[in-house]
Amino acid sequence: MNDLAGKHIVLGLTGGIACYKAAELCRALLKEGATVQVVMTEAAAQFITPVTMQALSNRAVYGSQWDARAPNNMAHINLSREADAILIAPCSADFIARLVHGRADDLLSLMCLARPRDQVPLLVAPAMNREMWAHPATQRNVTQLITDGATILGVGRGDQACGETGDGRMLEPQELLDDVIAFFQPKTLAGQQVLVTAGPTYEAIDPVRGITNLSSGKMGFAVARAAREAGAEVTLVAGPVHLATPRGVRRIDVKSALNMLEVSVECAQSASIFIATAAVADWRPANSAEQKIKKDGSGEVPRLTFVENPDILATLAQSPRGRSGELYCVGFAAESHDLLANAQAKRLRKGVPLLVGNIGPATFGQDDNALLLVDEFGVKDLARDSKLALARKLIAEIATRTRARGQK
Ligand code: CTP
Repeated sequence: MNDLAGKHIVLGLTGGIACYKAAELCRALLKEGATVQVVMTEAAAQFITPVTMQALSNRAVYGSQWDARAPNNMAHINLSREADAILIAPCSADFIARLVHGRADDLLSLMCLARPRDQVPLLVAPAMNREMWAHPATQRNVTQLITDGATILGVGRGDQACGETGDGRMLEPQELLDDVIAFFQPKTLAGQQVLVTAGPTYEAIDPVRGITNLSSGKMGFAVARAAREAGAEVTLVAGPVHLATPRGVRRIDVKSALNMLEVSVECAQSASIFIATAAVADWRPANSAEQKIKKDGSGEVPRLTFVENPDILATLAQSPRGRSGELYCVGFAAESHDLLANAQAKRLRKGVPLLVGNIGPATFGQDDNALLLVDEFGVKDLARDSKLALARKLIAEIATRTRARGQK
């Protein structure tokens, strides 16, 4: 992916052991297509050398407001004017305090103060000992910094370099990268609560065997991520899959269709959008055995009988909130053939305003997909692309439709 193509990021480093992670972060930003200008405080240079950061960013590193390289001798103005964002990672407790007080006696704080605030957002990744983070002075400063318009990317929890354990570590480079990418996505679903089902379900035959399907959950996880990036609060109800939870998404793991139904109905009460990407098993064994079914030596094979699972999407689409449009329901259709006809029929059968068709065997487990959107107005093709790119386009389409329906 090239999610940061064309973006110029000023990466500010302040004094803290997490500076070692800034090297990885710098690479990750570049890999996503950004250009990175590193600015370091004197304290940061105690933890990692400007040479390392220069080699990684492929640009001379700035550290002093007296740096004579800039012909106008105004590095703080030049560097901040060309940036799409200033990201301070790691940001020490001391540097947060300096930002809050509008200090300007080193290049990085001077640059933050001198930036055009409406054009150059300031993103802050705090990193410090847990006591420093929990201290009322730091918490007060963080609140003030948010009031002043900065975005705080949060802190991680776990073992700290000092040997203590708690809140205050800098987020991992991949987490920061995801946050920066999300920051630049349009906030088309701000204020919305989105519920997504994803992955397969697992229907037990006995305690060691069951029936499932080939859904990897990738499309649903991408949809959850895209909805979160668009500013929604997202709950992801996931069947058994091995995928990392997207940043900022609340995940509830379930196994069977009945579990998924129960959790979804509960979560749908407060949701404004429901996107059903899960490949829910249509049937479950009628009598799941309590004990493992054993061979008894007679050569006789067990005979399974099935009962139909409830339809989660239809249940929610036909609920009072679904019918009134308070809950905007989006279905997926995994088909093997006749995509358009099947998707149109399925939309009507399920009673949903929008149905998204895809060819199941061509996409299960893959990183890309192609989608066909069917609603009352017609059909729209979303051409083959990565699942994340498609999920972002789908979220934009859903945002347009819910806005048109007067949902805010
Ligand atoms: N779905 C659901 N609960 C079920 C079955 C399906 O919520 N018990 C949802 C899926 O998440 C998807 C949509 O309904 O959004 C269509 O799923 P699909 O498996 O394509 O369709 P089915 O209804 O199972 O119909 P068929 O298998 O006959 O194509």
